[in-house]
Amino acid sequence: MSLISLLRKNNRKTLFTTPSHGQKFFIFNKFRQFYKYDISETDTHNPEQALQKAQERATKIYKTKSTRFLTNGSTSGVIASVLACTKKGDKVLIWRNAHMCHLNAVKLAGCEPVFYDLPVDNEWGIAEETKAEYISNFIAAKQLSSRAAKKSGKWKVENGKLDNFQLSTFNFQLDKNLSPDTSPSNAIKAVIVTSPTYEGIVSDIKAIKKVCEENDAYLIVDEAHGALYPFSEKLPQSAVNIADFTIQSLHKTAGGLNPTALLHVNCNLDVSNALSMINTTSPSYPLLASIEANINYLNSKKGRKKIDELIENIL
Ligand SMILES: Cc1ncc(COP(=O)(O)O)c(C=O)c1O
Repeated sequence: MSLISLLRKNNRKTLFTTPSHGQKFFIFNKFRQFYKYDISETDTHNPEQALQKAQERATKIYKTKSTRFLTNGSTSGVIASVLACTKKGDKVLIWRNAHMCHLNAVKLAGCEPVFYDLPVDNEWGIAEETKAEYISNFIAAKQLSSRAAKKSGKWKVENGKLDNFQLSTFNFQLDKNLSPDTSPSNAIKAVIVTSPTYEGIVSDIKAIKKVCEENDAYLIVDEAHGALYPFSEKLPQSAVNIADFTIQSLHKTAGGLNPTALLHVNCNLDVSNALSMINTTSPSYPLLASIEANINYLNSKKGRKKIDELIENIL
């Protein structure tokens, strides 16, 4: 049963479960219709199973390894992604002016933030795109040892330090007084990129993913403002099938209720534990059902046509 039909079915006279309003008591009158749909995980119709099925269908729509419904915004998706792919002490590369949830995610995971800056477009006064070469140059500058060692295959690590002979034969410019630590803890574990930015600046996620792969780093794309991208060829390419984790706010641009969002996973990591660490065990089923209805519409012929029409009218 879909989440939507589950909610329709649920207009019963007496409800002996939580929520305590039982769909009839202590109701704020203006929201009476809304209360009718407010069920909980204790409901006999097994909403958790309906949610699982709805997420499986979403996974098919987006062609991801898994797509999860979020009722606490992209904020929770970014935090869950960082929690899922890092461990305490790992380094995470983030844009200095990113949404605050990026830094908060890194802090909550007990990781170390490493900041990159982006050039500012003088005419508009806004940040330019994140170029793959910025990431690779940055990693090369800070993490030269581990990347180059892997590539050349010549470097051998003993007790976490490179031996001096190998250091001197290395053909990159490197401060010989440095004793590069090539232990995994020195490598960037994850990179978070915002694309599009709030102002609509889009980055080449495919190229950035390649750099991340070369450096064994997970790529997390904050696509909070790009939730329509998968549904029109007139829009930039979405990261949902490229990045390891892509987070989209449905409520920002795709007609969703506040604060509905999606977390798309394309790697072999399971985000369930991470999500359970930051989410309530009593999610709002009306909000979850609205996500199901929202993406079914976006994916429908009618929805796609509407998006294309809107774009044509803008252009
Ligand atoms: C780029 C970006 N990422 C993430 C977020 C957080 O999104 P949400 O409000 O869905 O938690 C925002 C919100 O403004 C944002 O602009």
